[in-house]
Amino acid sequence: MKTTDMSNNTMVLVENLDVNFGKKHIVHDVSFSVKEGEIIGMFGISGAGKTTIIRVLTCQIEKKNWNGKVLVTGLSPSKKGNYSKILSNIGYVPQLELLNLYFELNPMVNVEIFTSTYGMDKREAKITAEKLFNILDIPKDTWKKRVKKMSGGEKKRLSMAIGLIHNPKVLFLDEPTTGVDASKRYDILSYLKKLNQQLKTTMFIITHDLEAALICDKSAILREGKLLEFDTPQKLINSLPSNGLVARISIENLNQEVIKTIQNYPSIEKVLRVGNETIEVLMDDFETNLPKLMKFLFEKNLNIYSMSRDVANFRRYFQIRIQEEEEKENSKNRSELLNEGDRP
Ligand SMILES: Nc1ncnc2c1ncn2[C@@H]1O[C@H](COP(=O)(O)OP(=O)(O)OP(=O)(O)O)[C@@H](O)[C@H]1O
Ligand SMILES: [Mg+2]
Repeated sequence: MKTTDMSNNTMVLVENLDVNFGKKHIVHDVSFSVKEGEIIGMFGISGAGKTTIIRVLTCQIEKKNWNGKVLVTGLSPSKKGNYSKILSNIGYVPQLELLNLYFELNPMVNVEIFTSTYGMDKREAKITAEKLFNILDIPKDTWKKRVKKMSGGEKKRLSMAIGLIHNPKVLFLDEPTTGVDASKRYDILSYLKKLNQQLKTTMFIITHDLEAALICDKSAILREGKLLEFDTPQKLINSLPSNGLVARISIENLNQEVIKTIQNYPSIEKVLRVGNETIEVLMDDFETNLPKLMKFLFEKNLNIYSMSRDVANFRRYFQIRIQEEEEKENSKNRSELLNEGDRP
């Protein structure tokens, strides 16, 4: 059993969390802890259990469906009596902004409605809203216009402002960049970083957008309800062979046979096909072994179009880590099948 340290500035603590819906075991023995002011990115392919974990933390799943120790701002969502205190300590920005915005009303009225449910003073709410709108660059001429007339990006930022209006200690964002065009995605991420720095808000960002790791202090990687990794994106990348140095090689008529030959060459740790005729290769002792590999490829009479070197980014790390897990599972399944075959 893992025990995680609960120090004074721990905002969220999860120990040995299991979630079951009937016979479906959705989350398996997940443990992590988050300190005040940290930004956590939650990454994983669809169905990995990201939203389910966040739903436990935000009091949306009854205790009968989960086991383990969970503390959010020092309070456990296992007790219904803690719900209202936890909910006043946290903010939640849903994936679809229409879930927390009234489109027919203007941003300021949206703020009034939302803050009245927290019993916040009207004047204080207005001052906070103006501060957040300014940080988030929500243009002043839209503050008194109907939300439905705002652009997609403006609506998203307004939804974030509403999630932060009661100055929560922890903000949960479900897919904040989904549906935002590529050039605006970076804007949303930098706004989140700015809010985190100015308000010291601890943040959980659930996302399929692997670029979001750029603003995260820690990345959680989930697969099929299991937490594979929870660490700084840089430490994860550095755990790759040669600290994540990769050789990108384009080869004429690249095929599985060539890939296998390279895979079997000594010191090669991983070969990823990243294009029709392009692979990326990770190896131990990169500086010594790259020239040896290139020599070997020339001797095999392969026509090399290009070779460049790079350092793996978080996207590449994620791909490698998920692939590794799939390979582990496949070989486990294969050996189980073989063992079954041995039985009389
Ligand atoms: N209330 C529920 N009852 C039964 N199964 C559920 C329930 N909620 C979620 N699941 C299942 O749990 C698994 C994890 O779902 P979850 O929504 O947590 O995944 P996710 O990582 O957020 O995926 P996505 O990226 O698609 O949002 C899925 O297989 C889903 O079908
Ligand atoms: Mg989800």
